[in-house]
Amino acid sequence: MAVLAGSKKIRTAVFISGSGSNLKNLIKFSKLKKSPISINLILSNNNKAKGLRFAKIFKIKKKLFSFKNNTLAEKKILVVLKKNKIEFICLAGFMRILSKNFIKNFRGKILNIHPSLLPQFKGLNTHERVLKSKKKYSGCTVHFVSSKLDSGKIIVQKKVKIKKNDTSKILAKRILNQEHKLYPKAIMKIF
Ligand code: GAR
Repeated sequence: MAVLAGSKKIRTAVFISGSGSNLKNLIKFSKLKKSPISINLILSNNNKAKGLRFAKIFKIKKKLFSFKNNTLAEKKILVVLKKNKIEFICLAGFMRILSKNFIKNFRGKILNIHPSLLPQFKGLNTHERVLKSKKKYSGCTVHFVSSKLDSGKIIVQKKVKIKKNDTSKILAKRILNQEHKLYPKAIMKIF
């Protein structure tokens, strides 16, 4: 996907469920001249997501959706995305699986970040499982989203060495620091 010089930035929505450090980082990145994207919408399934505060801080529109009924939620989200002329989606700690039907509407235009060296350690409680496995390395991955959990073509990965006294909290923090470098790198790579 090429961006023409001087053309407008790609209107992007970021989906979050939690603290939103990747969201904050993507917003900062989007403001750089070299960034191909602008962040125009923040979407969450969790009204207590701490990351929602960045909507106010950076004056970005936010929308909340209950996922009690997945099909209905996705239908409503598609309407909102269309209304806001969203062309690209970044999942950033969004803890819901999007359906095949939803993804079909944004084929090749949804990215996700996951705190492991995919295809290893998909799913929840990643760091706990990595530490139990006694692996020497973990890391993070940015990939295109498919309808299977944490699957889809890998764009970039970063290895992170596991240290002797790592707890899942310490490791998560070290990997998160790398995630903040990796997500912009992946976006620069595909556009
Ligand atoms: C990040 O570590 C992200 O990779 C992970 O949730 C965290 C969100 O942190 N995502 C997944 O596990 C997706 N399967 P953040 O809210 O501070 O960006």
